[in-house]
Amino acid sequence: MKLCIDHADTDEIRRICAVYPIDGVSTNPSILAKSGRPPYEVLKEIRSIIGPEGELFVQAVSPDAEGAVAEAKRILAETGDRTLVKIPCTPEGFRAMKLLRAEGIRFIGTAVYTAMQGFLAAKCGAEYVAPYVNRIDNLGLDGVKVAKDIHDAITRNGLDSGLLAASFKNSQQVLELVKYGVKAVTVSPDVIDGFVKNAEISSAVDRFVRDFEGLCGEGKTMLDC
Ligand code: G3P
Repeated sequence: MKLCIDHADTDEIRRICAVYPIDGVSTNPSILAKSGRPPYEVLKEIRSIIGPEGELFVQAVSPDAEGAVAEAKRILAETGDRTLVKIPCTPEGFRAMKLLRAEGIRFIGTAVYTAMQGFLAAKCGAEYVAPYVNRIDNLGLDGVKVAKDIHDAITRNGLDSGLLAASFKNSQQVLELVKYGVKAVTVSPDVIDGFVKNAEISSAVDRFVRDFEGLCGEGKTMLDC
């Protein structure tokens, strides 16, 4: 399963990439807006951080299919051909997906709130489908279940696609999909930090250091004991 960062703050992306096994970075227009920087400037910096092989997800905003295809070509020209273009799963979005597929351009279906949206995007050739887990929860529905339903619909129909599950607000939502073996999740830095934020973990590690220093002296390690 791939683990991506859902963010456009390049300092945060650098910090998380230095620590965790990260496969890529996803953005959307709202995330880019939060950066307050010109989109291609920030996207190129993200590309330089994750390298040419990292997955970068960038959303087209044109309301019409032909506009989205033209945007997709510009996005790839600016950020490299490992980039996947995010297309909202609307009727016009599905038309854009069919045009992109005919041109061999990689894309993902985004803004997914229902299992049928996800299934249709996969059938249109989307390499990934992005259900918004927490936003679905906030509708009083079950975001993890919708994501699992899409995963099942894709695998049981033999489609060459998978989840890039998104919009997480806690570790448990992510863990449920990790256990289910989905293709990828994209998670904000604060939720990634929460994977290992636990006073017991820090306390256990501190205790090991104190005990070792009690045995060998302050500041000693296995290098000089
Ligand atoms: O990229 C879309 C998705 O990640 C949205 O997340 O946190 O705005 O619900 P959020």
